[in-house]
Amino acid sequence: MISNIVVIGSGVMGRGIAYVGALGGYNVTLVDINEQALDNAKNEINQIMDKGLSLRKITSETVKTIEETLHFSTEPKEALGKADLVIEAVPEKTDIKREVFTMIEEFANEKCLFATNTSTMSPTEIASFTKRPSQTIAMHFFNPVHKMPLVEIIRGLETSDETATIIREVAERMGKETVVINEFPGFVTSRISALVGNEAFYMLQEGLGTPEEIDKAIKLGLNYPMGPFELVDLVGLDARLNNLKYLHEKLGEKYRPAPLLEQYVKAGRLGRKTGKGVYDYSTINKEGVKQ
Ligand SMILES: NC(=O)c1ccc[n+]([C@@H]2O[C@H](COP(=O)([O-])OP(=O)(O)OC[C@H]3O[C@@H](n4cnc5c(N)ncnc54)[C@H](O)[C@@H]3O)[C@@H](O)[C@H]2O)c1
Repeated sequence: MISNIVVIGSGVMGRGIAYVGALGGYNVTLVDINEQALDNAKNEINQIMDKGLSLRKITSETVKTIEETLHFSTEPKEALGKADLVIEAVPEKTDIKREVFTMIEEFANEKCLFATNTSTMSPTEIASFTKRPSQTIAMHFFNPVHKMPLVEIIRGLETSDETATIIREVAERMGKETVVINEFPGFVTSRISALVGNEAFYMLQEGLGTPEEIDKAIKLGLNYPMGPFELVDLVGLDARLNNLKYLHEKLGEKYRPAPLLEQYVKAGRLGRKTGKGVYDYSTINKEGVKQ
């Protein structure tokens, strides 16, 4: 039975995963090497809870329970020793994932299950960084985690049926719908999303229209809830570029990152998290209204 969960990486995704984990009744420790990232995570989770309270989606008892069961730490050793499940949410770079899973393997107990929140990478390859491929799986959450209903569960070559069943139950207890699929780079969702988002950058680069016009065309013409530029600003342009680089390497030419996307990343325009991506958020107030 899963009681204790450690989430590694408290960025855009890790903080949301930690929150829905605590909401699901688990004892959760959120870990990061960067103290500032942990502080930001704590503030954002508090904001989500305040909004949940004001909308009556959660009660003050739930908030109290979450405050008692959700912990923040830069020192994962002790929590890893007690963990039944570790969910990794560090940047989409093979070297970083390898380093993190090597560390987790060292401190986690033998029964502990390992999940990666990778958007694109092979859970089989990630499992090869550990000594427990049958206990390793991908658990792909979506952004923003507390609002998005799906967890895409991806089995690696050696993932056991038992691991897949337990992970599905955990995701459901976190309030999520699930699909369980077999591994192929990009899975179902990231493969489509990266392709559409990259194509939009090529269109922008070709002068086809403004970001507003392209987003509006996709939303109203194709019935997408968000335009590709609104979405990439939420996802993070750096995260999207890492995904595309991986898919380009594994699946070929059609995933080559648009040069304009690379240029925006070089300029530090990473999306909402830095205040500017395709759109400029310095002129948008907290309610999301342009001033
Ligand atoms: N951003 C999205 O919309 C999205 C959606 C689904 C999946 N993902 C995937 O989730 C993962 C995380 O993405 P993100 O957007 O949250 O990244 P992010 O850059 O916002 O956060 C990553 C965090 O990991 C921390 N970190 C780096 N190395 C670490 C280490 N060795 N130990 C502990 N913490 C460490 C960083 O300090 C940072 O706070 C990636 O694999 C990404 O592909 C992202």
